Amino acid sequence: MLKRIEARRVRNGMFVEAIEGAWQDPFLSKRRFLLRREADALKLRKSGIEGVIINTSRGLDIDGLLIEIDTQAARETIQKSVQVLESVFGRLQHGDGISVDQVAPVISSVSKSMDDNPTVFLSVTRLKSKDEVTFLHSLSVSALMILFGRHLGLDEATVQTLGTAGLLHDVGKLEIPLEILNKEGRLDEDEIKMIRDHPEKGHAILSRQEGMSEIVLDVCLNHHERIDGKGYPRRLSETQVSFHARLAAICDVYDAVTSVRPYKAPWSASQALKWMLGSEGQFDRRLVKKFALCLSVAAVS
Ligand SMILES: [Fe+2]
Repeated sequence: MLKRIEARRVRNGMFVEAIEGAWQDPFLSKRRFLLRREADALKLRKSGIEGVIINTSRGLDIDGLLIEIDTQAARETIQKSVQVLESVFGRLQHGDGISVDQVAPVISSVSKSMDDNPTVFLSVTRLKSKDEVTFLHSLSVSALMILFGRHLGLDEATVQTLGTAGLLHDVGKLEIPLEILNKEGRLDEDEIKMIRDHPEKGHAILSRQEGMSEIVLDVCLNHHERIDGKGYPRRLSETQVSFHARLAAICDVYDAVTSVRPYKAPWSASQALKWMLGSEGQFDRRLVKKFALCLSVAAVS
């Protein structure tokens, strides 16, 4: 089982899967290792990092100071949801039609998880395997949009639609090969173009589906637009970026930077929020502040 613990709880004998905040240190950021010496554990505790992801099936668990979190139910929900998404995305990829009803069971279980225990659900979707990265990212963004929408007091029908928008926002990535999506090094111009085309491709796919909500279409097309007009695909200006697209941009980037990927160290929630608040012109700052409050109320770390 993978667990996130605060850096001060790191002990000799733990198996470290990832270190939060070590992205500037190429040595630490890529390693998965068993802590064999107390001196190394001490070095980690004193290194100024915030948290560590440990694998308790390969090393020591945390000491009894923290409450055990049972992730079994969340993992089952996620597994079933990924299967539904695989089939829905597969249909779309082959040009077949889908209806919103097909993703409704996923929305209702994500929605319930956000009511029951958002921390557990979001900590499990944070761990992205290479082949399921788009599905897990979609689930996570859907969950964050539901959580945030409820926090903002939006009506439940809009909250559910935002959840659907989160699930389908990256459907245009279906056409991007996995080796490009998972590429560790620099992308060349063609690859960047392919990635930047995904909102329009996704929007074209979803526009062909009957009864697709305007909010879902808007989020799909505009979740990479920025407040300062430097986003893509259309470089919309501040007043042109809708409330729903602003909300999606925050949830999308937050999940991307806090995800645990095989090749990069994740940011902690507070590092991500600090960076997002300081990132001039990219997000609606007032909304980011509300998002930070939403996560602290839900105790997501
Ligand atoms: Fe995207």
